Amino acid sequence: MTAPEVVVHDSGEVLVEAAAARLITRIVDAQAARGVASVVLTGGSAGIGLLERVRRSPARDAVRWSDVDVYWGDERFLPDGHPDRNATQAREALLDHVPVAPERVHPMAPSDGAFQGSADEAAAHYAELLATAAAKATETPTPNFDVLLLGIGEEGHTASLFPDTPHVREARQTVVGVHDCPKPPPTRISLTLPAIHAASEVWLLTTGAGKADAVASALGGADPRDIPAAGARGRDRTLWLLDGAASAKVPGLG
Ligand code: 6PG
Repeated sequence: MTAPEVVVHDSGEVLVEAAAARLITRIVDAQAARGVASVVLTGGSAGIGLLERVRRSPARDAVRWSDVDVYWGDERFLPDGHPDRNATQAREALLDHVPVAPERVHPMAPSDGAFQGSADEAAAHYAELLATAAAKATETPTPNFDVLLLGIGEEGHTASLFPDTPHVREARQTVVGVHDCPKPPPTRISLTLPAIHAASEVWLLTTGAGKADAVASALGGADPRDIPAAGARGRDRTLWLLDGAASAKVPGLG
């Protein structure tokens, strides 16, 4: 796994604008190389803000949206269309405004769908979906994610992997149901660290002074069991995109 690289932007606004441009370029390059691109979206203000900037970018149509596979790193286990679902917010921010192929957009199941309130069953289904998609191209249990986007919480969670929980130590399953989450809503579905590690590039989008301690701990070598974001690494690249406030306690950056 790759060592973290850090890019510090002047503000959260500059960060999401620059990250949007970076994402467009990453997708275009992947499509030039392989004909398709595979991205994993995240919830949270930075993750959704990035998608809104992609929508507004004049460069957005450099992407062949019909050849983009869209997955999620985590999801709030709520009814379909609920405004707090990451998929709802991603559709409003971007996906409903570009010609993605519906069969290539893979939301995690809602709580009122086929799994009737079982986040664990919904998680198992998503793991099977990833394994099926992967089987077409690789021998790994997940597809070749070109870029996997993440946010982090003030206590160091990433996706819906929270400190000192069995899920952050999960070494085999790729997707888990998460219950009693400290960040509402309490029930979620999340990729695990093994699934995150399968991505080519992992980008952690982090803004604000409230995250400064978690960022400094994660970049300072914290144990992922204590700071799950510390365990978020890509095969080819691990990129921390920070604003000045979030980087303030990182030695040499603050
Ligand atoms: C979620 C996210 C979560 C989020 C972080 C940061 O579903 O809530 O996936 O991991 O990215 O909590 O959120 P903010 O950027 O809003 O602080």
